[in-house]
Amino acid sequence: MIKIDNLKVWVWEKEILKWISLNFELWKNYCLLWKNWSGKSTLSSFLMWHPNYNYISWSVSLDWKDLLSLNAEERSKAGLFLSFQNVPEIQGIKLSEFLRIIYNISLKNINPEQKDISPFIFKRHISKYLTELHINEGFLDRDLNVGFSWWEKRKIEILQMKLIGPKYIILDEIDSGLDLDAFRAVASMLKNLSSEKNSLIIITHYFKILEYIDVDKVYVLRDWLVEREWGKELIEKIIEAGFE
Ligand SMILES: Nc1ncnc2c1ncn2[C@@H]1O[C@H](COP(=O)(O)OP(=O)(O)O)[C@@H](O)[C@H]1O
Ligand SMILES: [Mg+2]
Repeated sequence: MIKIDNLKVWVWEKEILKWISLNFELWKNYCLLWKNWSGKSTLSSFLMWHPNYNYISWSVSLDWKDLLSLNAEERSKAGLFLSFQNVPEIQGIKLSEFLRIIYNISLKNINPEQKDISPFIFKRHISKYLTELHINEGFLDRDLNVGFSWWEKRKIEILQMKLIGPKYIILDEIDSGLDLDAFRAVASMLKNLSSEKNSLIIITHYFKILEYIDVDKVYVLRDWLVEREWGKELIEKIIEAGFE
């Protein structure tokens, strides 16, 4: 479980999150229903680790480990994954090497004795995922996300999830910027990925994705406080009657 107990986050003089308290349990899926600029992306990147944010908190833990004392790599090893609202492009890092490195780290995380998988074996290992996600093998030789379309970047993120099997997956507006076909494909891939071994934390303005992925809880934020938690029936009410 990710347990956030009274978290306040600010940057320079600007207060972004004010005394947030909420929990994300493994097995359950969540939806954060917060207004624009309310701090959804801030919370996401704060949890994953971000250099610019100041914070005070009673505690933030992940499976009872103190999350705030871990660096980004340790948070990832502890099972946290962030799908960025804006996926970064990183020149000079070859996609195949990036994927192989994170895969090797995830194997070592389970078994410290594990030897690194060679590029040759790795290529064989991911070929089934490439087929499943319709990713052309030629992509592997390109720089990480550089010049990839929105849709291709999403597929690469899903490929990463498949490789390392994260427990808590934050999806920061994964449904935006996709055309209908790409959206459907991403939503079905996420549906297949969702299991009792992970928790999807969905940040969205559209409810369409919730037709694919069942959420157990909805968190509503108002005036920087988590007003209350709801079951998914809230979504049905909003679709019918609107936000107000
Ligand atoms: N690194 C930062 N520096 C300055 N302001 C920031 C930073 N990160 C977020 N903010 C501000 O915090 C507010 C919340 O942003 P964000 O978390 O992106 O909202 P949301 O994702 O809910 O739309 C915005 O007003 C944004 O400009
Ligand atoms: Mg955002």
